[in-house]
Formats: sequence, C-alpha cells, structure tokens
Amino acid sequence: MNQLLIVILLNIVSAYIYYDTGLMTDFDYTIQPSFICKNGYSNTATTTFSQQFQNIPQVFFTHEYLDQEMAELGFKLAITAISQTQFTTEISCNKQRVFAIKLRWFAIDDQRIEVISNFNMENPDDKTFPIKNPNAQTGFLAITSMRYTGQIDFLLSISQIKANSVTVSITKVAGKFANLKQIGYFIVVGIEEAFINLGLKTATGAFSSGTIPIESNRWFAIALQGLNYSNSKNLRIKATYSNTATTISYTWGTWYEIETPNSHSQIWIAYQFTKIFYPLECFTIRTSRKEVKDLSILPTFYLEFVQSNQIYTTNGNYVYYIDKSNVPFKMGISIKCENGKKIQANFNKCNACSTKKTHSFSYNCFNQMNYVGFFPVFQQAFPQYHHLKINMNPSSLEIINVVYNQALTESTIVQIQILNQ
Ligand SMILES: *[C@@H]1O[C@H](CO)[C@@H](O)[C@H](O)[C@H]1NC(C)=O
Repeated sequence: MNQLLIVILLNIVSAYIYYDTGLMTDFDYTIQPSFICKNGYSNTATTTFSQQFQNIPQVFFTHEYLDQEMAELGFKLAITAISQTQFTTEISCNKQRVFAIKLRWFAIDDQRIEVISNFNMENPDDKTFPIKNPNAQTGFLAITSMRYTGQIDFLLSISQIKANSVTVSITKVAGKFANLKQIGYFIVVGIEEAFINLGLKTATGAFSSGTIPIESNRWFAIALQGLNYSNSKNLRIKATYSNTATTISYTWGTWYEIETPNSHSQIWIAYQFTKIFYPLECFTIRTSRKEVKDLSILPTFYLEFVQSNQIYTTNGNYVYYIDKSNVPFKMGISIKCENGKKIQANFNKCNACSTKKTHSFSYNCFNQMNYVGFFPVFQQAFPQYHHLKINMNPSSLEIINVVYNQALTESTIVQIQILNQ
C-alpha cells in the first residue's frame, strides 16, 4: 500500500509527457511581420512543449500552409536542436520570397516509431537510410523544404523497407527534374500498429477530403509527397479543417490564383501503442562435453546462427538482425574448456519470471572434457525481427537483444564466461 502511494506520488510530481503536437506559425509574416524570408534571410524559432518529456523526444512536422513565389525560389528548413522541453527550427530563403509556412509538428518519446530526417538535400536523388528498429517495417514521408528554378513535377515515395534500411525514390520527369535543385523530407517508420495510411491522394485541382472518422490515440497528418507546379503563379496550398467530435474533414488547395497539383498521403499516426516486444526466450537447450585432442587449432568461442549459417570466431563487437522467418531461432556455441578453468553459462529462459529467469550451467574443465557445446533454441511471442549485439571477448561471450518499446531496452540473452576454478 505504501509503495503504491509512493509510486502514485512520484507520478504526480514527475508528470512527464510522452507525446505532444501543435501548429507552428513563427514563419508566417501575417503573424510575425519581421519574417521577410528572401535573399539570404534566415531565422530560427523555438517551440516549447506543453510539458517536459521524460526523454528527448523525436520530432517531425508536415506542412499545412505554403505561400511562396515563383522561381528562383528556395528555402532550407531543419530542426536543429531538440531537448526535453523544446525544439528549434531554422529556415533560410535564398532568392524569391517565402511569405508563410505553417508547420504541424509532432513530438513522440517512443521507440516503436523512428524519425529519419533528410533535410535540404542538394541534387535530389534516390537515397537509402539506416533504420535502428528492425520491426519498423512500414512508414511514410513528408516534404520539408525545396528549391526550384522553374517548373517542377516530382513524387517522393518509399520504394523499399528492409530490417535495417529504408529507401526513398523520386520520380524524374524529363525536362522538369533538373529544375528541382534541393528537396528535404522526413521519413517516419514504425511498427505495423504505428500508421493507418488512407492512401496517396493525387489532387489536380481543389481537394476536399470528405469526412474521415477520428481514430483514437492517433494524430492525423497530411503528408505532402509531390508537387506538379507550373511556375506560372505563386505556389499556394493550405489545409482548412472542419472537424466534428467524431470526424475530421479538410480542404487542401489554393486560396487565390491557381491550384498547384500535388500528391499527399493521409496518415493516422499512433502516439500510444498496445503492441509490446520482448527479448527472445530459450525454451530448450542441448549441451555436450567432449575431448578434443588438439585444442590449439580451435577458436576460444565458436558461435553459429544455424539458419543463416552466420559464424563468429574472433573477438569483437558485432550487430546481427534475425529475420522474422527464423522461428524458432537456433544457435550453436562451442567453447574451449582448458584444464583448470570453468565455464559458466546463462541463457534467458523467461522474461516474465522473477526467479529462475535463466537456464544456467557451470562446468569444471579437465582434459577429458575440454570442449563444451551449447545448442539453445529460442522462441518469441509472434513473428518479428530481432536486433542482436554480440560481444566476443577473450574470456566471455555475451549476446544482447535490443528491444524497442516506449523505451529501448537491452537484455542479455546469452552470457558465457570462462573463469578460473
Ligand atoms: C503535371 O501537370 C502537367 C500539366 O497539367 C501534366 O501534363 C502532367 O501529366 C502532370 N504530371 C503528372 C505526373 O501527372
């Protein structure tokens, strides 16, 4: 009872937040008259979160209002700093004027979403980015900045996601692609639960979404992915929402002069998750001890991931991603067990147990039993990728399972030590 009270009190005192959102209007001359973004002007703005985050969150934004002149026009835009209480955005304009942009920003402290930023990319081209969370196998992207010297017509899209990378492709329309000198974007990847993607909307004129039911515990985002801009009038697009308690609907288009055809996706982004990931559990293990006549030709540790034939025999720190088809996951580990030494080994057996969490072994080494083998088999609650760190040292082998939930955790699933008797 006392403990419970203390926990509740601590929660009230700390009151950290894990997600936050807002509309940033510092780069709009109608609100900030000094914002005259042209000919090398630059400005930074600080946006304060509604409360303090426990950890530095990931932050991304989408455009909800663009008002800018014809070519040559270019603006660079980037998030330059993020803390637990605020983030800083920097903009600069090279020639013609950007009158206003408004940014719908999203901040989240959860590792089931991963934000990758590719700000202000000169000479736009296809590009591949590393992903940390191997289960972040779905995602979307949203344009952040651009520079054009004439008509532009392009579409950005995620062309491939693998366990440790995501590739973004850009269409290259002959005669127009060369006018796109710079493009920036966010790629937001996440676990399956992270996004409900209502699809790519290709608008050639005024766009009206119709009513869209609100999804609980999710943010709505208009992710601009492409423009087909004729460069004959200023580029103007804005989102105007008319929401009810249960639905949202918006129009997306100009408010003056002519429409800019564009492509955007409608995404519901989760800021709270139900899916929880756990480290691998060893549900069965076979061991062997035998005599090897010439130990000197063998490595101290021989580690094999059976299904992929991946073998490690030299000291070092390695990263390995287990494919989700490798179920159950099998390892073979052989260790030199020299006279006078002993081997202690632990294999993670039960994530939920408070005692008996591991299969544990302790073997004294002697000449007739100088080579020890462990053949553990691991299982998981549902098909998923796993991120492993392997640390092989002269007298220890450790395999760590990196797990991405609200927080990132590292759990040792295999630990083998060669000790003196
Ligand atoms: C872009 O607009 C032009 C002019 O209306 C049109 O001919 C072209 O097909 C459009 N591009 C795409 C990819 O739809």
